[in-house]
Amino acid sequence: MENPGIQEETLHLCRIAGTGSYVPERVVTNADFEKIVDTSDAWIVERTGIRERRFAAENEFTSDMATAAARKAIKNAGITVEDIDMIIVTTVSPDNIFPSTAARVQNNLGAVNAIGFDLEAACAGLIYGIEVGKRFIATGFKNILVIGAEKLSGMMDMQDRNTCILFGDGAGAVILQRANQNTGRILATELGLDGSRAEMLQVPAGGSRLRPTYEVLDARKQYMAMRGKETFRYAVTYMVDCARKVFEKANCLVEKLTLAIPHQANLRIIQAAAERLGLRDDQVFLNVAKYGNTSSASVGIALDEAVTSGRIHRGDIVLLVAFGSGFSWGAVLLEW
Ligand code: UT7
Repeated sequence: MENPGIQEETLHLCRIAGTGSYVPERVVTNADFEKIVDTSDAWIVERTGIRERRFAAENEFTSDMATAAARKAIKNAGITVEDIDMIIVTTVSPDNIFPSTAARVQNNLGAVNAIGFDLEAACAGLIYGIEVGKRFIATGFKNILVIGAEKLSGMMDMQDRNTCILFGDGAGAVILQRANQNTGRILATELGLDGSRAEMLQVPAGGSRLRPTYEVLDARKQYMAMRGKETFRYAVTYMVDCARKVFEKANCLVEKLTLAIPHQANLRIIQAAAERLGLRDDQVFLNVAKYGNTSSASVGIALDEAVTSGRIHRGDIVLLVAFGSGFSWGAVLLEW
């Protein structure tokens, strides 16, 4: 991609200076789903690897979870809320269609010096957010807060066993800063989009395409719908493809990888992708069993857990990789 006015070396002078995450208190187990749809703990564990997920409280919104994750990231980066000059919230479940969830987060935090906006790239949201933020760092922004946050529990059809068992709520955040010779940095990034597959994973109603009339609501079109098998196949293909591309771009061997932080949609997707990339089990971070698929929050929550549990140290090579509705996908390779 051409970057008029910005040298390629400057563009990559960006690092993750802090991480934070938040998951709601309420744990929903597979046994809870056995009571509402025709499913079983054994099926869910075998086909997805998910054992439980978190659901936000009725009065707990996407912006609240985003704010909680952001506070931790700000603390871990050793900065103050006044230092934040941009807030990018990536979400498919914003508080409102407008104003932006970023505006709510700015107000919750008191980040009075920040501009902000929402970015929607489904499960690849945080990866897209990091790429966009990286480009603003190259133009002089100092502390960019990128948050992936979701309240998917409100968008799931609790009568559809194909989807309701898969998703959960939460938020993950990172602070982006300029890198220097004493810090780690982003080595390479790759984004992709194939809009011809938009119908495979979508919420049909609620936007300009299908107004939420009574008939539409009766047909349950306000909820998520997915063609699971096809989505699974594309997820593996594109995650592997963009992961390979970032290693190539960074001129880095896959064997050098310390830890991959993949989007946590399904254990079998992660295992299939890891096998194709030739990764060992200890090179892949997993928490899908605890939280299910939290869309754009997934990579941020996993990254923060990997950092706080001591799985990532200065100088390590870390891969963030995700795939979701759109279809959209992306990868970030970092030296930590
Ligand atoms: O975050 C972005 C991307 N999202 C994903 O990556 C999700 C991708 N897709 C998947 O993870 C998997 O396709 C699923 C977990 C959704 C489904 O697994 P699968 O192995 O592809 O199963 P399937 O859809 O082929 O269904 C197999 C059978 C079907 O029954 P029949 O038609 O063979 O009688 C389904 O009706 O399993 C049935 N089934 C269930 N059974 C028990 C589907 N959902 C359930 C369920 N419990 N919850």
